[in-house]
Amino acid sequence: MATKSSLPLDVLQNCACPGAAYGANFTLKKMNRSHRSLIDFTRKLYRIPPQAQVLDIGCGGGAHLAKLLKKQPTATVYGVDISPLSVRASLNYNKKAVRQGRIKVLQASVEKLPFADAQFQVVTASETVYFWPDLVANFREVARVLAPGGLFMVCVDSDDPQAMAPYMARITGMRTFTRYQLIEAAQHAGFKDYRLQVSKQNQVCLLFYN
Ligand SMILES: C[S@@+](CC[C@H](N)C(=O)[O-])C[C@H]1O[C@@H](n2cnc3c(N)ncnc32)[C@H](O)[C@@H]1O
Repeated sequence: MATKSSLPLDVLQNCACPGAAYGANFTLKKMNRSHRSLIDFTRKLYRIPPQAQVLDIGCGGGAHLAKLLKKQPTATVYGVDISPLSVRASLNYNKKAVRQGRIKVLQASVEKLPFADAQFQVVTASETVYFWPDLVANFREVARVLAPGGLFMVCVDSDDPQAMAPYMARITGMRTFTRYQLIEAAQHAGFKDYRLQVSKQNQVCLLFYN
């Protein structure tokens, strides 16, 4: 009989790091589909300046990278993800834009971003902060790569720990931050201002300004 520790990891563990369990490629495709409504809600809430350098942290299956470039076709859009499988999926999803040099994807953790100080005008993080190891330190690292006056957009399908409890029970290391905890972390990290937007489905989008 299999003991608990010899069982394969829950497929949902791929949400924290695709490749951590079986079914990673399926999860990556599903992420692209299931986060569509969140991205559609957030993309109307901010603008990307022409020729901007944009960074999406925790880019997963790569659909958000495509939406960012569609929103501002003169931008250069970078994606980073801790998982090599996410990097591969994002590159595949955006083949043409990658060939044209408009989308670039690298493997990296938010803890140490491989970019220069003040490189980006816009940084986004969709459905990923649940897995970040140290919110204040990680937000500080985002602030470092963001230009003065730049925008950091954080969005989550839910910031309600009760609603997210079934996921947290199945995904090791996942935490749900309330909108107030996200704002407090951003203020500790040095962001000067913020705007909060909540959708009818209670999806949360926070716009932090450097
Ligand atoms: C639930 S998926 C969201 C993917 C995508 N942003 C979306 O909205 O569909 C979370 C992603 O965050 C990535 N991630 C988790 N921890 C990370 C870290 N410390 N640094 C960068 N990416 C991370 C995971 O590998 C995964 O691809």
